[in-house]
Amino acid sequence: MIGGLEGVVAAETVLSAVDGEGGRLVIRGHTLGELAGRTSFEQVAHLLLEGFFDDLPDPEALARRLGAARAQVFAHTTAIDETLKTLGPIEAMRALTARLADGDDLDTALRLLAAPAVFTPAVLRAARSLAPIAPDPALGHTADILRMLDGRIPSPARAAALDAYLVTVSDHGLNASTFAARVVASTQAGLTSAVLAGISALKGPLHGGAPGPVIEMLDAIGTPENAAPWLQAALDRGERLMGFGHRVYRVRDPRADALKGAYRTLNVAEPARDPGRLALAEAVEAAALEALRQAKPDRRLETNVEFYTALLLEAVGLPHEAFTCVFAMGRTTGWLAHAREQVLSGRLIRPQSAYVGPAPEAEAA
Ligand code: ACO
Repeated sequence: MIGGLEGVVAAETVLSAVDGEGGRLVIRGHTLGELAGRTSFEQVAHLLLEGFFDDLPDPEALARRLGAARAQVFAHTTAIDETLKTLGPIEAMRALTARLADGDDLDTALRLLAAPAVFTPAVLRAARSLAPIAPDPALGHTADILRMLDGRIPSPARAAALDAYLVTVSDHGLNASTFAARVVASTQAGLTSAVLAGISALKGPLHGGAPGPVIEMLDAIGTPENAAPWLQAALDRGERLMGFGHRVYRVRDPRADALKGAYRTLNVAEPARDPGRLALAEAVEAAALEALRQAKPDRRLETNVEFYTALLLEAVGLPHEAFTCVFAMGRTTGWLAHAREQVLSGRLIRPQSAYVGPAPEAEAA
């Protein structure tokens, strides 16, 4: 099919490999299982950025520089005005990110890594008429994100759960937002422009905008018994079930299990965080898979990353309207690495289109 570029290879990358038939994700030589729940956001950022900046320091120094970058970008929160408050969190976060100067250097990259982490809590607080909370550069990245939401240092289990999420979504082959970022990078527009393209592509419900609606779906379904009729009615109305289906995976998305595992780990440490959500989610998942098998017998539609993203981020204590921003906090790492890879070893991306419009009248006559 021309429209969706299925099967077209548009880049060579050393960053990640998505095996859609085997249900396997490899990030720079490591399986997802080796990384998620075992590495911090800062460590995976180092892993992805290695080789793309001559002055990349060791992981500990990178973590310190990222803390300093959080403090630097915080200055832009003074630009939150009444107009910005009318935007949704992802649009407001994108608007603040657009204030950052373009560049191709490590400092620009670190400011872009820091931007969604600092701007998301700030815009969420602004929507409630609360002043933003300045970052603490000495804290770990995820602990600081959660502290900027309510001023309290989070439990290690909550910060670790957010690390597991950000690591899991850090990179994923040539998905729509990464492709958008690479196209912009290929024009040598700079890293800020590439990341803004990534945020814009991520925002749509067919990509990173799905987990908020997953929570709305769980809330609307309410009880396990209601799952099958509710889902069938949605399919009968021609709606898509959020958190299911994927362009590449024909089996279960491996990230779904990584995130379900992180959810369980958080739940063991802090059982009060599960208000019966897992039992409901499992019932909805089973009913959705069955309904999709009936509705689309020729198309294998399985659980994707967004279904358990919703559960995990809710348990971490993040509001569902900000889930796509949190996705961007993780995926910016991949966008930056891909943008640098494109600039260093790629060419201008400029495909062609097939003209199917009318011929000029003079020629048709
Ligand atoms: N619910 C119902 N039907 C579906 C779903 C779904 N979740 N996913 C696909 N289908 C159907 C389509 O309606 C289509 O049917 P048709 O051939 O009768 O028109 C068929 O399956 C094929 O769908 P496509 O859109 O061609 O498949 P594509 O590869 O483009 O879809 C996508 C991938 C966009 C993720 C799709 O599965 C979807 O819309 N899922 C729901 C939204 C979602 O979960 N998004 C997050 C994706 S994960 C990520 O990007 C991080």
